[in-house]
Amino acid sequence: MDGNGRWAKERGLPRLLGHRAGTENTRRVLRACGEFGIEIVTLYGFSTENWQRPKGEVEGLFGIFEDAIDREVPELHRNGVRLRHLGRTDKLPDRLVKKIEDAMKLTKDNDRLILNLAFNYGGRAEIVDATRRIIAEGIDPAAIDEELFSRYLYTAGLPDLDLFIRTGGEMRLSNFLLWQTAYAEYYTTPTYWPDFDKAELEKALLAYSQRKLKLGELIGE
Ligand code: IPE
Ligand code: MG
Repeated sequence: MDGNGRWAKERGLPRLLGHRAGTENTRRVLRACGEFGIEIVTLYGFSTENWQRPKGEVEGLFGIFEDAIDREVPELHRNGVRLRHLGRTDKLPDRLVKKIEDAMKLTKDNDRLILNLAFNYGGRAEIVDATRRIIAEGIDPAAIDEELFSRYLYTAGLPDLDLFIRTGGEMRLSNFLLWQTAYAEYYTTPTYWPDFDKAELEKALLAYSQRKLKLGELIGE
């Protein structure tokens, strides 16, 4: 979800207002995802690298996320959304961690859409964490294969990514789901996240399905 800061700057607003607008926008995008029949969505909200931002912005982001959880979770729950957290909980404010945990508990039996919140997430950190757990459990090295390793990632039990969308024009993966994006289709748009709406999502999905059709022709599917 990139481009909140630039969206605000172009309007002469403080960056945090851009983050607020971006968070508001996630509701709209999630609704559109539901309408398009998407079953699993992962939002990259805060990376392990984002700690390098000014303290005021980091704290502001945490506050915005707390507000968003308070405001959105009841409706997400009513709509059958199951929340999962991808990332480390260390260093995050206790209050935020508690809110995330409560939301996960509340929604754990929902099955219409899985919403992964990648928050204090890093793809390398995830692989390191998986490795630590595999070693701590004394798994026989010979038993470690890709399937087993996947089960130790934060995304345990979820399939690989189909489509990766990056807004704000950057062309980098930025440490996002490194393992799970091995075969993902990559889509990038210059549109800033607060402006990424249903029509933009549809464009991304069309691009994805056209590539898949082409691939199907090539491999004779
Ligand atoms: C949102 O956009 C990303 C978050 C960490 C929430 P940015 O804050 O990276 O916005 P730009 O790139 O400065 O426009
Ligand atoms: Mg950015």
